[in-house]
Amino acid sequence: MSAARLPADPHHRTAFVTGGTGGMGQVITTALARAGVHVVTTSRDHDRGQTLRRRIAQEIGADLVEVLTGDLASRADLHRLAAEFTARHDRLHLLVNNAGAHYRERLLTADGVEAHLAVNHLAGFTLTHLLEGHLLAAGDARVVNVVSATMSDARPVPLFGRPRPVPLDLSGVTDARDINPADGYVPFAAYARAKLLATICGYEFAERWRDAGVTVNAVHPGIVSTGIVNDLVPAVLAPFRSFIHRRLLTPEQGAEAALRLVTSPGLAGVTGRYYVRDRETRSPDISYDPATRAAAWKLSLAWADAVV
Ligand SMILES: NC(=O)c1ccc[n+]([C@@H]2O[C@H](COP(=O)([O-])OP(=O)(O)OC[C@H]3O[C@@H](n4cnc5c(N)ncnc54)[C@H](OP(=O)(O)O)[C@@H]3O)[C@@H](O)[C@H]2O)c1
Repeated sequence: MSAARLPADPHHRTAFVTGGTGGMGQVITTALARAGVHVVTTSRDHDRGQTLRRRIAQEIGADLVEVLTGDLASRADLHRLAAEFTARHDRLHLLVNNAGAHYRERLLTADGVEAHLAVNHLAGFTLTHLLEGHLLAAGDARVVNVVSATMSDARPVPLFGRPRPVPLDLSGVTDARDINPADGYVPFAAYARAKLLATICGYEFAERWRDAGVTVNAVHPGIVSTGIVNDLVPAVLAPFRSFIHRRLLTPEQGAEAALRLVTSPGLAGVTGRYYVRDRETRSPDISYDPATRAAAWKLSLAWADAVV
């Protein structure tokens, strides 16, 4: 499914794509809008968001993109963004939790949560949860979480040896603020763990909505030449950055995987799966552990629902 050749959407559906200012987010937003979907996206900065909206409107010849301003690392902003969306729209057909980030050090959000966890898992979880009524109202909504194969191999330089799935042990963890603690902190592993939690909770959403017509899948888009790669490349390889970028997928190629999951007629009803690009793949063993899934769900829900 090429981003440029998405078939026209005859139903004029509504999509919510987080991180429209980023490499793949821009491609996903533009491709869906070009197909006739009304796309709501997010930007941390109002002016950048409006510049994006105007640029896409000019490119596709229609003003189909709406930009909400907010920081996805903030629980208060997540609740406000969801409220703004639900005030303006009565249903949500396609939700792409695309925004993500990697940080070089351990940062805490204003809510006291480790930042990788906040942006790469809790943001998508909270939006999906808060938009549940609108997803169910659509009848056949699709949710896609953009995750990362780093969860299956969290070695920063995976040249030798066997893949090492990121460790995850939630036994005894009673608060999301205790995930990715300072003790033994490794940024790349913290990022991978957040993506693993997004995948696990996606399986739980899929199970809960199996009979309601809402599908939830996760996808690793490939290694794609976008801004996040600069943060992910180990410092030792920094001098080779431009060489590395030239060998990666383009944002258009990377975006195809998420676009396929939200638009392909052949994937109607397919739910609770994890894909590496367009290939269905098994996620780390721990993601299928019922106790871990129950704990991940409980911690995430408690955080999402806490009074803001
Ligand atoms: N590129 C890869 O190789 C690769 C591989 C596996 C998975 N992924 C995943 O693919 C997704 C898309 O990333 P990308 O490659 O397109 O990277 P990108 O160009 O860096 O885009 C990331 C997007 O997330 C937004 N974002 C980050 N932190 C945010 C926050 N606190 N609040 C609101 N928005 C925030 C960014 O907004 P700003 O424009 O304001 O920064 C940007 O729009 C991410 O989930 C990433 O983890 C990427």
